[in-house]
Amino acid sequence: MTAEHTAESLHQSGKATRLTEVQLEKMIDSIDEAIIGCNKDGYINIYNSANERREKMSRKYVLNKHVDDVYDFHGGKSLLMRAIREKKPILDHYQEYTTEGSGTHVEIICSTVPIMEGDEIIGAVSVMKDYSKVKKLSKIIMDLQSNLYSSGTDKESKPKPTGARHTFEDIIGENHLLQDTMRWARKTADNVLPILIYGETGTGKELLAQGIHNAGSRKNKPFIAINCAAIPENLLEGLLFGTVKGAFTGAVDRPGLFEQATEGTLVLDEINSMSLPLQSKLLRVIQEEAVRRVGDIKERKINTRLISISNNDPAEAIKKGQLREDLYYRIAYISLRMPSLNKRLDDLPLLVNYLIGKYNKKLNLNIEKVTDNLSTLLEKYPWPGNIRELEHVIAAGMSSLTPEDRQISLHDLPPNIRHKFAGGSADRSRAGNSITLEQTLDRVERRMIEAVLKRNSWNISKAARELGLKRQSLQYRIRKHSLYTT
Ligand SMILES: Nc1ncnc2c1ncn2[C@@H]1O[C@H](COP(=O)(O)OP(=O)(O)OP(=O)(O)O)[C@@H](O)[C@H]1O
Ligand SMILES: [Mg+2]
Repeated sequence: MTAEHTAESLHQSGKATRLTEVQLEKMIDSIDEAIIGCNKDGYINIYNSANERREKMSRKYVLNKHVDDVYDFHGGKSLLMRAIREKKPILDHYQEYTTEGSGTHVEIICSTVPIMEGDEIIGAVSVMKDYSKVKKLSKIIMDLQSNLYSSGTDKESKPKPTGARHTFEDIIGENHLLQDTMRWARKTADNVLPILIYGETGTGKELLAQGIHNAGSRKNKPFIAINCAAIPENLLEGLLFGTVKGAFTGAVDRPGLFEQATEGTLVLDEINSMSLPLQSKLLRVIQEEAVRRVGDIKERKINTRLISISNNDPAEAIKKGQLREDLYYRIAYISLRMPSLNKRLDDLPLLVNYLIGKYNKKLNLNIEKVTDNLSTLLEKYPWPGNIRELEHVIAAGMSSLTPEDRQISLHDLPPNIRHKFAGGSADRSRAGNSITLEQTLDRVERRMIEAVLKRNSWNISKAARELGLKRQSLQYRIRKHSLYTT
């Protein structure tokens, strides 16, 4: 295959002005990401300057050689050949290899696409991002986490704080749904069987997990909570199960969180975002009650109580393919549901009272209650962010008050919060019926984001793409509008 072929296949529409071979080569050569391509038999026919720099091999040396003669995939397979065989793109895949020519060790995140001419496969191209920078950063995070959690091996070192500050007493509410959950939570506290807590965001799942730990015999042992959605996939495995020196470049002998939390409790938050392959490794650990550190052959016995947390109903997570059914049965001997605030509005006065007390102490205030009008508005609001959102409203309402004040009224809420309740009756008379341009834009933004998120099944990356926003920018707006999946 020649570069001309590539130019054609990359530009099949035929309607636009066709790229010349020289233009195409210049373009491929001038970008920062390493690119490699091969024909359908695996002989390399594209190799750009960025790749020359990264792999320390010259184009002259590489071109026309077979991929298997140029790279050692450490027992793995070439992604180019796999894309050709499967006729399917392989996106954002981690790969590690050594070049035969220069002996350079490379770690990349790579997207590989097969190149088709009509129905016929004519080759494949990979675009590769350097993984070492991401990895360095992630390693720093892992080290910090590890230091934070590890109790120190010497016996003289101070007893480690368990990490769980809250007890059942901190969980406020008398509603029957909550009390039912609490009754089961108390029963399970001294048990070692894994349990699952689920419920909407801000309903107090983490609080309950801490309460369970502190109510059981493990209360003076470590309590470690980790959010599975926040750690890159291939680091999560090492973080959970540990690593041994040489498992991969830079790997050190390090116990994983399962070992560090031994005799205590390990909380896996957002378990439904863990990849399915890692879920099956987790299943094995639970079944065997032993972990094998990444790169190790030895199994180490563990005695760690596992509490998993999910922000959606496990039955739904299984149906959506986010949670393996076999794992579910192992992690959820008991499932505890934290009820949403709008299903326990009878607890609202109690919670408001509790939160006023909490912020009186923090802010040195003497507030006694919310006005009747605000109280009615709070009851009518759907509380998508649950108790976290309620706390935010009360704290914000108290932030501008003085020690002489006794009540929080709607008008003590900052505008961005007040407008949530602006549909309420009494407010209209004071603020008038007019809605500002800012409020209107805000509402349009909220509706549009909500619609796109729903359309994309709450896949943030896809929704961000559709909205033309960066992922972080969408996440910021989700928080701003308190948008949460139900
Ligand atoms: N019943 C409750 N009584 C008092 N405070 C509560 C209660 N439930 C939750 N909170 C408070 O609400 C906030 C959110 O609780 P928590 O972090 O446990 O929620 P979560 O369900 O884990 O949320 P997310 O899914 O977003 O992680 C915390 O500040 C917590 O102290
Ligand atoms: Mg949580």
